[in-house]
Amino acid sequence: HKEWKRVASVQDISADTGTLRVLVDGEAVCIYDVDGAICATQDKCPHGNASLAEGYLEDGKIECPLHQGVFDIRSGRPLCPPVTTPIQTYEVKVEDGAVLIRPQ
Ligand code: FES
Repeated sequence: HKEWKRVASVQDISADTGTLRVLVDGEAVCIYDVDGAICATQDKCPHGNASLAEGYLEDGKIECPLHQGVFDIRSGRPLCPPVTTPIQTYEVKVEDGAVLIRPQ
């Protein structure tokens, strides 16, 4: 198992978008505030060169800003074309206002 890594503060997550892009070991990761539950996935859309942190978050789903593909944030499952590949999800925990994830 890899170590938990502190990647952000909960308060760094944008109140407007509910997302935050961070780099973890050189990998772009998107942190989400899903109605108070903090989640994390890879930030790059597997369909193209888009940052999911710039997408539209609703109901635990993220819509890619480029071609509106949709992913389930908790499972990483693609929900709507043109995306067909799942995205990486990460285990997350919150400690004293800090967001920790376990890189794969
Ligand atoms: Fe995300 Fe095309 S780049 S749906």
